Amino acid sequence: MLRSLIICPDRSLCEHFEDILLDIGGVGVLRVLEKYPHTHELLRHVRTSAPQILFVSAEDLEKTLLIIREMESNAPHVQLIVISRSADPNLLLELMRAGVREVLPLPFQPQAIRESIGRVREVIDKKPVVSDATELLFSFLPSKAGSGTTTVALNTAVALSRQPETNVLLADMDLNCGLLRFMLKLDNAYSVTDAAEHALNMDENLWPQLVSSMGKLDVLHSGRMNPGFRMEGTQIRHLLEFARRHYGAICIDHSGNMEKYSIEIMQESKRIFLVCTPEIPSLHLAREKHAFLKQLDLGDKVSVLLNRCVRRQVISPQQIEALLGMPVTMSLPNDYNGVHRALTAGKAVDPVSELGKVFEQLARSLVEKRLPSAAPVSETPSKKGGLLDFLNLKNSTSNPAPSPSGATALVPKG
Ligand SMILES: Nc1ncnc2c1ncn2[C@@H]1O[C@H](COP(=O)(O)OP(=O)(O)OP(=O)(O)O)[C@@H](O)[C@H]1O
Ligand SMILES: [Mg+2]
Repeated sequence: MLRSLIICPDRSLCEHFEDILLDIGGVGVLRVLEKYPHTHELLRHVRTSAPQILFVSAEDLEKTLLIIREMESNAPHVQLIVISRSADPNLLLELMRAGVREVLPLPFQPQAIRESIGRVREVIDKKPVVSDATELLFSFLPSKAGSGTTTVALNTAVALSRQPETNVLLADMDLNCGLLRFMLKLDNAYSVTDAAEHALNMDENLWPQLVSSMGKLDVLHSGRMNPGFRMEGTQIRHLLEFARRHYGAICIDHSGNMEKYSIEIMQESKRIFLVCTPEIPSLHLAREKHAFLKQLDLGDKVSVLLNRCVRRQVISPQQIEALLGMPVTMSLPNDYNGVHRALTAGKAVDPVSELGKVFEQLARSLVEKRLPSAAPVSETPSKKGGLLDFLNLKNSTSNPAPSPSGATALVPKG
């Protein structure tokens, strides 16, 4: 199945085209952009979705040509197919001059589309994409302060660095209460704010001075409290681009305050791990954050990690998922002693402990690009308690937090 993106502000044209694609089969649509994206947005979609084909509609020729140029210089491996309502010879000439080889005008002929995709498939098969930039960028976001997010981000990063051929960057983006420096007893004077300030001219000489290396893991801590520090979108993008080219996987620890730079990073992330604990306030805030992320069109990147689980939970798994309005992707056991021992030693939790094994399992699934399937949200809340009644959620359990797509599937598509 070939992976594709569609850029098409003309909704009815797009729906018609998608219907035909579906009938033909062999091409999956990862995302439809209903507006022509700005360059950085376009490239972000290309990085996070890694499409093989980009379908772009030509109703605004100037914007279409801009997209074609940007793709040619930044992602030449992605095959372009232009769709159009018109077969105007001037339009076709302009597209040809821009180097476009595949144009599909109305009326869409399934046979012509099949042939066009066939030609494109041949090119893709001959030149499989060799990208030197990792797509394994993961955000760790607390539902509520103290959920254990930093602990989870750190231990997942360490477990990732134990995977074959995976060097890892762990960056602390909690500029007020960042704890990684303390937890790992790091003494590097430089921090993420220095990295941001030098983002535009980052190079292989400067970078090693900014990070602290521990085997295959590099850590960029957040330095001293720096509440006023603002990071610009361009700084973030440059830093992440640099990191993507130099690491096999990247883990970002967020504060949970949804700063602008934090949202920028989440937009760049392959997956956002929302870390919560099996307690009502934490679950409630996880639901709120998920709803907020859905408004930003980031909802389908979210996976819930339920931290500090005990065997006899006060709230049943069904109630937890009903409160969250989404499935739990992974449960991590409560291990106060294990986490405490690791903290005092300035390292990760024991990999053979129950908690350590869960981090190992999570890390392996991330490099193998398959998260454990999340169970569907239970539609029949436990009969035991009137908790859902109490929280006024009973009627909304089969219809979780509002979502434009209504999707609650959390297993990544790719
Ligand atoms: N699985 C676990 N078992 C036992 N204790 C844990 C576990 N995970 C985290 N903790 C403990 O929970 C506390 C909060 O952890 P941590 O600082 O990682 O959370 P956080 O969500 O990053 O918090 P903050 O909001 O301060 O950033 C710490 O004392 C940590 O040791
Ligand atoms: Mg933290």
